[in-house]
Amino acid sequence: MNVDYYPNSVFSQDVDFSFYLIFMISIFFLVGITAFMVFSVIKYSRKNNPKASNIEGHTGLEIVWTIIPTILVMFIFYFGMQGFLKMRNVPEDAMEIQVDAGMWWWKFTYPNGLEQSTAQGLTVPADTPIYLPLHSVDVIHSFYVPAFRVKMDVVPKPEGAPLNYTWFEASQLGDFDIFCAEYCGLNHAQMLSKVHVLTKPDYLKWMDEELAKQKAQVAENPGLVLLTSKGCVACHSSDGSNRIGPSFKGLFGKTEIVVTNGVDSEIVVDEAYLKESILEPSKNIVKGYQPLMPPLPLTADELGAIIEHIKELK
Ligand code: CUA
Repeated sequence: MNVDYYPNSVFSQDVDFSFYLIFMISIFFLVGITAFMVFSVIKYSRKNNPKASNIEGHTGLEIVWTIIPTILVMFIFYFGMQGFLKMRNVPEDAMEIQVDAGMWWWKFTYPNGLEQSTAQGLTVPADTPIYLPLHSVDVIHSFYVPAFRVKMDVVPKPEGAPLNYTWFEASQLGDFDIFCAEYCGLNHAQMLSKVHVLTKPDYLKWMDEELAKQKAQVAENPGLVLLTSKGCVACHSSDGSNRIGPSFKGLFGKTEIVVTNGVDSEIVVDEAYLKESILEPSKNIVKGYQPLMPPLPLTADELGAIIEHIKELK
């Protein structure tokens, strides 16, 4: 993996400053306290002080070790708060891209309706604030871009509450890793994507090309486009290779053993079984697989297009 953790966004300096401030203070006290402790152990040992007496209380010392840490903590709070406010206040002119997350995929939706999958990633223009409302369709995930110092929980929308959000402004061109930073089940570690940062003209060109490409793909094979945009391909391959769920290749017409409430039975994969597997995935699980798939709400047209496509994957 090509990992680039250099500061690449407008918050990087604030986050790194707070981090190094705390780190340096910690190093200073670690070294200072350890040295003083070693010195005291030797100097005030019983051998060197056969007639040692107890000391109790020292008001001066109490005041010193209360006031100094208080001042340090206030410093840390001040710099931490500065960075925090910057991260929570989205600039007015920010461009909005909706982030949806699920087990175990990301989806990025642009204002014009363009959708990008986990594999495609999040493409953004440089030096432009990007506002990201975050929404999970199932459990808690976390949108994490280390290079931008951005990490925010992605939670299912609570009734009546606003969506969680984050924002960033990339200041360098390139590809940067997106991780899921909240343990969300079996494939948590594979919930990886990329931010692609382009110059503004390149971004506009990319957007035009991507819209044209998607339009052509939808016209040609709507089922394949849905498999990607709905995240199916994260767990189901089309080439026979084994992932979390059965491969789509040669699936239609195949005889499978399914487990229904703990009882095995043989079925032939037909349209009805495919439909059921999408709408109620945990009802009849193919033997050897775990009931991990969430029900996928689809329109009748979408369902039809997906099933047509699976039928063609011989
Ligand atoms: Cu999603 Cu971890």
